[in-house]
Amino acid sequence: MGFPDALPKSRVPAAAQAPVLRWGILGTGWIAAKFVESVRAHSTQRIEAVGSRSPASAQAFAAKWGIDMPHGSYEALVSDPRIDVIYVASPHTIHHAHVLLAIEAGKHVLVEKPMALDHAQAAEMVAAARRKGVFFAEAVWTYFLPKFDVLQQVLDRRIIGDIRSVYTEYGEFLPRDHRIFDASLAGGPLLDLGTYPVSLIEKLLGAASRIVGLGQPDPSGVNGQLAVAMQNDAGAIGTMATTLYGFTPTNAAIVGTEGSIRFTTEFHLPGSFEVWSRDGSRVLRYEEPRGAHFEGLFFEAAEVARAIAAGRTETGCRTLDASLGTMAMLDGIRDCLGIRFCTGG
Ligand SMILES: NC(=O)c1ccc[n+]([C@@H]2O[C@H](COP(=O)([O-])OP(=O)(O)OC[C@H]3O[C@@H](n4cnc5c(N)ncnc54)[C@H](OP(=O)(O)O)[C@@H]3O)[C@@H](O)[C@H]2O)c1
Repeated sequence: MGFPDALPKSRVPAAAQAPVLRWGILGTGWIAAKFVESVRAHSTQRIEAVGSRSPASAQAFAAKWGIDMPHGSYEALVSDPRIDVIYVASPHTIHHAHVLLAIEAGKHVLVEKPMALDHAQAAEMVAAARRKGVFFAEAVWTYFLPKFDVLQQVLDRRIIGDIRSVYTEYGEFLPRDHRIFDASLAGGPLLDLGTYPVSLIEKLLGAASRIVGLGQPDPSGVNGQLAVAMQNDAGAIGTMATTLYGFTPTNAAIVGTEGSIRFTTEFHLPGSFEVWSRDGSRVLRYEEPRGAHFEGLFFEAAEVARAIAAGRTETGCRTLDASLGTMAMLDGIRDCLGIRFCTGG
């Protein structure tokens, strides 16, 4: 097809119209609070319970967010019959244990990214969810955003043709006492920040048949930064970098045989992007204000609610195969750079 006159519209339904589920929050950290804030403000989902390792934390979080049922253990949370779905917001070192706990209790699960520490853990979690017949998804919120639905339609209509290359990166400044510098919590940028660029490359190019790269260790014992190039069987190349040492544009460019896509703000957040014709003479722009977690996390909650209410056990926004593919690519990068986790697990 030729270059179009306009971009497709987002097909993401209004979050307020999603069927209402009863949510339990596992963990009381940074992202748990952001999720509750966004979901409460922008959707009609009911956040009914929170579970923590400590009764005091559960009570403090419940009091702050007006949640009726604080649980002083994760076991109590997942066995609460008044809850439909558990949002797992613990560190990724223990996603495997916490997701299996919730699945075995018969709960649907949305787990924060990365799904697990490695592909082997993720495969076990996916198999458990399929065996139990519950919904399971990885909360890579990017792929639930309206802009990614528009982007998906651009790809499906082959507006940029065959993808030849993907360039992407993500760096952030984080204080030294952040868990990202903690080797016992599988710190380093790859699983925390690099998940976004790596999942984008996996989504666009599929499995890597070859990976080369460079990494630099941080004195804390975690990897500090890395840059990697990957190639698929067709010869297409994805390059990604991630760092703990400062903010980067967090951008991405996708080059196809008929055109290219560039993001004009951080690719993983709400914001704008452009589709360029091959010779650059035509540009279509998807316009959206740049947003952060508050403006975006609720989309994943609404999609999970729609999927569960419809009896689906996964979501097309972030399929389980896509999560497994990302975990395999992350494993490949770690193998290439010799990054080992010392989590004791
Ligand atoms: N989607 C996003 O944009 C986004 C952003 C940031 C982080 N994340 C992901 O979300 C997950 C949590 O990140 P976070 O930044 O929210 O972490 P955090 O602030 O450290 O919170 C993690 C919570 O997990 C619980 N926990 C259970 N076992 C723990 C342990 N051994 N050590 C520390 N905490 C433990 C704690 O809650 P209790 O003490 O109440 O049990 C803690 O508050 C990670 O997988 C991360 O990659 C996603």
